Amino acid sequence: MDKLIVQGQKRLVGEVAISGAKNAAVAVIPAAIMADGVSVIENLPCIEDVSCICHTIEKLGGKCVYRDRHTLELDCRGKIDYRATFEEVQKIRASYYFLGALLGRYKKAEVALPGGCNFGVRPIDLHLKGFRALGATIEEKDGMVCAYADRLIGTSIYMDQVSVGATINIILAASMAEGVTTIENAAKEPHVVDTANYLNMMGANIKGAGTDVIRIKGVEKLHGAQYTIIPDQIEAGTYMIAAAITGGDVLVKNIIPKHMDSLTAKLDEMNVTIEEHDDSIRVTANRPLHCANVKTMSYPGFPTDLQPQVAALLSVCQGESVITENVWDNRYQYIEELQKLGAKIKIEGRIAHIQGVPALKGANVCATDLRAGAAMILAALAAEGESVIEGVRYIDRGYEDIEHKFNALGANIVRVK
Ligand code: EPZ
Repeated sequence: MDKLIVQGQKRLVGEVAISGAKNAAVAVIPAAIMADGVSVIENLPCIEDVSCICHTIEKLGGKCVYRDRHTLELDCRGKIDYRATFEEVQKIRASYYFLGALLGRYKKAEVALPGGCNFGVRPIDLHLKGFRALGATIEEKDGMVCAYADRLIGTSIYMDQVSVGATINIILAASMAEGVTTIENAAKEPHVVDTANYLNMMGANIKGAGTDVIRIKGVEKLHGAQYTIIPDQIEAGTYMIAAAITGGDVLVKNIIPKHMDSLTAKLDEMNVTIEEHDDSIRVTANRPLHCANVKTMSYPGFPTDLQPQVAALLSVCQGESVITENVWDNRYQYIEELQKLGAKIKIEGRIAHIQGVPALKGANVCATDLRAGAAMILAALAAEGESVIEGVRYIDRGYEDIEHKFNALGANIVRVK
């Protein structure tokens, strides 16, 4: 089990290039099996979750050939199995996209229930409600979800709750249904738009992705396509917050600044200097940080996936800050680890009350999930002294070359096998 040894009080200065979006990649790759053809996906992040999804594709009968570290050729011609029932599938939550993709193409799918991060219950009832609305019969037995349909018929679906996964999964299945499907109260995240754009390149007919009403006109066949994944909004936000918490001066490159608006506004409110350019943002923190209140919401609100990272930052801002987590039931398990570093935080249900402290102190901490792990690194970079972070395997699921990118900015992080 790898761990990271982090020397504290390192001011980050320089440039960092952001990789492709994990949550787009883990939806686009399963979508490729809907085409009886070859796709080339560019700007893929080199992370564990992508490798895991590629292993699943290969076990289903598809071929994954890397042209280079970030470019993948996906050949899904010929026989693709509709049963994704092996252990890779249980490793990550995004495996549920194989349900929508296989149901769309073969009108049947058997997928082992996904695993994923351990913050609260992560139901997929909204996904299954969408598939049933399209005419599928769903059976859940021994940890498997089995979906079958003689025909998938387009219909109108109102999402009880905004759900990224359910929105994307229904788009996948509806892309090859008969007739028109309308999804109302749809998720508007950039990775929803990215998946819809890729499907349209494959010959699908999807309009309105990025708004709360998405209209999909089903087609008989999809063909392979070449597609470039968008930059990762959450990785970019993690490095922007890293610059702020270390009093640094960092140019975060290869991003879509519009995607960062909610964080940019919050950092500005906290007295951090932000300079926006076409495909980069410069973050300079050379003044005392002001406390602030953060409410996580679905896009374009403040992303829940930056909640642990901003909690680390608010821990060292003067005054009291409040975070309200509105997306997940229980996304504060990392707080205990932050408290080991000296943070003063009290949790009341979905609300975290943070009393800023002058400085954190290095300690031995654990990553409880992917984004919590990133937050531990940010806190350790700002803390006095050395910290040891266990559970790096979580961090590797979603961050490419994380210690190399931080060390290139002046950090001192050593990975110990
Ligand atoms: C995606 O998860 C992301 N994962 C998560 O990022 C992210 O936190 C989340 O969206 C919210 O932005 C991927 O894209 C692979 P949801 P997803 O469906 O789709 C409830 C990361 O760190 N819900 O939008 O699973 C659910 O419990 C990960 O990259 C249902 O009740 O999230 C939650 O409270 C962590 N029933 C809320 O909706 C359902 O059928 C939002 O979940 C589905 C969801």
